[in-house]
Amino acid sequence: MSTARRSVTGTGGGRIKYKKSLKNKGLCLVLIPNSIIASTPRQIIMSFKKTLQLNNGITIPQIGFGTWLSKPHEVENAVVWAVEAGYRHLDCAYVYGNQDEVGAALKKVIPSLVKREDLSITSKLWNDAHQASQVEKQLDITLSQLGTPYLDLYLIHWPVAFVSGRGLFPRRANKPDEVEFDEEPSLVDTWKAMLALRDTGKVKAVGVSNFTIDHLKAIIKATGERPAVNQIEAHPLLPQDELVEYCKQEGIHLTAYSPLGNNLRGKTKLVDYPKVKEVADRVGATTAQVLVAWGVHRGYSVIPKSVQKDRIIKNFEQITLSEEDYQKISKIGVNNHVRFNVPITYSPKWSINLFDEEEEKGQAEFEVKKE
Ligand SMILES: NC(=O)c1ccc[n+]([C@@H]2O[C@H](COP(=O)([O-])OP(=O)(O)OC[C@H]3O[C@@H](n4cnc5c(N)ncnc54)[C@H](OP(=O)(O)O)[C@@H]3O)[C@@H](O)[C@H]2O)c1
Repeated sequence: MSTARRSVTGTGGGRIKYKKSLKNKGLCLVLIPNSIIASTPRQIIMSFKKTLQLNNGITIPQIGFGTWLSKPHEVENAVVWAVEAGYRHLDCAYVYGNQDEVGAALKKVIPSLVKREDLSITSKLWNDAHQASQVEKQLDITLSQLGTPYLDLYLIHWPVAFVSGRGLFPRRANKPDEVEFDEEPSLVDTWKAMLALRDTGKVKAVGVSNFTIDHLKAIIKATGERPAVNQIEAHPLLPQDELVEYCKQEGIHLTAYSPLGNNLRGKTKLVDYPKVKEVADRVGATTAQVLVAWGVHRGYSVIPKSVQKDRIIKNFEQITLSEEDYQKISKIGVNNHVRFNVPITYSPKWSINLFDEEEEKGQAEFEVKKE
């Protein structure tokens, strides 16, 4: 990053349904008695178990399980419950500080419940290891924490480099309430180091997270290599239509995080929005199921998080939204733009304009060094 201003710029009646068997993926007949269907206002099956293909040919289950903000001693049980419930796509990150616990959970479910290859595990490179010399080192720590020889997907967590070797959130000497960025590695430098990981056998696919169209264009132009995935915040209050369309055109798979709206900023949770409740009540679903279905309707993967067993199970029971209900839910975001994850509002603050949000404009001191 050259000096000056880096605008970091921060899911009847004797009807027979075919259902895929969990273990051998063969087809088995499930007979649903009339009595049950008559009393059920909607069809609930655990999950559609749909997988989506990434641009390198590997597949990822459409509904995944988030692990961020799980308190100590919560995530181990949560991950075990999730795998028991049928989730096969787990979203982790070095910075969540809980990968050891996720690893402990994996030991409990592999091989007793699933084989390693039945799972799709994602993790992310933290901002303090963007330097080419640090990228594989931090991946090795993540692999050791999770107790797995490889990741299915490894992402650059944010398009932001922090200085290395001074902890997860190094602070500026003269502004200790702010993180210190690293002037050196550009996004292209870090992307090249990520691409090199594919030859190590430690990752099946590499991708990015929180990248805008500009960030994506820069790394693609410099390397000719498209990320397999861009993991972004997406929900009815932040549909990100332009970015969704760009990624579709470029063959970059999108994963939507904070699909339930999170609650980082003390705003009304999406699961509590009256319109979402109205649709949920009418179709006999939970509001969280409606929100997961909203993301699924858009064709990408969705990774709701919970540490509560009943919610973990329910969130994975998929429903389908009609086009009409999809449009109704989409309208919530009209003139009601909310992005929950804006790093300039974090503590310590990241003084960087990542998304050009109101909070960032004119406030951010740095901008992203793309190349
Ligand atoms: N790449 C990135 O920068 C990034 C950023 C944010 C998130 N992520 C990933 O995306 C995952 C999901 O995002 P998120 O954790 O921000 O938010 P989220 O999944 O949208 O929402 C999680 C919140 O909703 C609550 N919740 C879960 N199920 C519920 C239900 N059925 N009814 C009511 N409330 C419910 C959870 O509480 P309980 O746990 O108490 O149920 C938690 O407070 C993360 O865990 C992480 O893996 C990635």
